[in-house]
Amino acid sequence: MSKIFKILVVEDESITAMELQKKLVSWGYAVLGVVSSGENAVEKAFELEPDLILMDIILKGDMTGIDAAGAIKNKVEIPIIYLTAYCNDETFEDAKITQPAAYLIKPFQESELRFAIEMAFYDHQSRLKLMERIQKSLDGRDLLIRDIHNSVKNNLKRISTILNCQSDYIKDNQIRQMFQESENRVKVLELIYDKFSQSEDLANLEFADYLSSLVDLSFKFYESKSDNVDYKVNSEEILLNIDTAIPLGLIAHELVSNSLKHAFSEDRGGEINLQLDNTDSNLIMNVRDNGVGLPPTFNFEKSESLGFNIVKTLVDEINAEIEVKNESGVHVMIKIPKNSLDC
Ligand SMILES: Nc1ncnc2c1ncn2[C@@H]1O[C@H](COP(=O)(O)OP(=O)(O)OP(=O)(O)O)[C@@H](O)[C@H]1O
Ligand SMILES: [Mg+2]
Repeated sequence: MSKIFKILVVEDESITAMELQKKLVSWGYAVLGVVSSGENAVEKAFELEPDLILMDIILKGDMTGIDAAGAIKNKVEIPIIYLTAYCNDETFEDAKITQPAAYLIKPFQESELRFAIEMAFYDHQSRLKLMERIQKSLDGRDLLIRDIHNSVKNNLKRISTILNCQSDYIKDNQIRQMFQESENRVKVLELIYDKFSQSEDLANLEFADYLSSLVDLSFKFYESKSDNVDYKVNSEEILLNIDTAIPLGLIAHELVSNSLKHAFSEDRGGEINLQLDNTDSNLIMNVRDNGVGLPPTFNFEKSESLGFNIVKTLVDEINAEIEVKNESGVHVMIKIPKNSLDC
């Protein structure tokens, strides 16, 4: 059995409304109601959810048919056909904004109305089917992306496990430490893919949350050195895409690891402070500690050690600027211009 389409009639002229209702029923449509004001039209549209609204423009009450159509279309997608005696340009332009299925000028032929109604139903059904197909393919794409995040995470886990097993065979303490630090760097990546695979929004990540988990990871790794060290993460809510979140996360990891490794000792505790500010033109990350500070002869630009070189490479990758200074400890500021962020 074919579907019986439900129509709401909005018409302030009672005789016209009755005739219209009779005609629609004789054509096999169900008339859910006849209302004479824009306010009632909005209320009934939400309550009865018709398949189509036939809308007069000049109505009782404060709202015109165009106002009512705008309010309805803001919330639900119901096709609307205007039936009006008004055909001036201004009214027509206003009506156009509400994307009507048709605009019929009274008096019109019955066949014109019938044709417009059938076309509106047909278009609406086709649009619903298309939307359904698009939604299905988006759901499929999301599943695929989640799968990819998961599989990258699992492969990274494999790499960190291999590095961990390998480090067990290394007798030299310094080399073993280097292996374990690299294992920890892989874990930073693992963590970010884990967060992305669990996040509702597959494209962007709440970075402050990731930053805190990342600092926890470093504190766990440098457990023996972090007893008398605290940390604070102050950050506005900021969503970053994977291309920015990964380099910035790795930079933060190198800097926090440095603070834990070099700034403090058994006799000297302190604090590491991470701050993320989202200004109009830049995203700024400050990492500070109140430890011993960089050695007096240290030159950041010329340093050849791995950690700071990873930082320099990643800073270039995200088109950021870096400032490293001794300021009652070490203070590193990373400034990323908003125009190079895709978020
Ligand atoms: N927060 C800090 N406090 C004191 N000294 C620091 C700090 N950060 C870095 N340094 C000094 O700068 C040097 C270079 O740091 P860098 O991270 O490049 O190398 P690393 O930490 O020694 O080893 P790795 O290459 O494994 O990171 C360190 O060896 C240390 O002397
Ligand atoms: Mg380092």
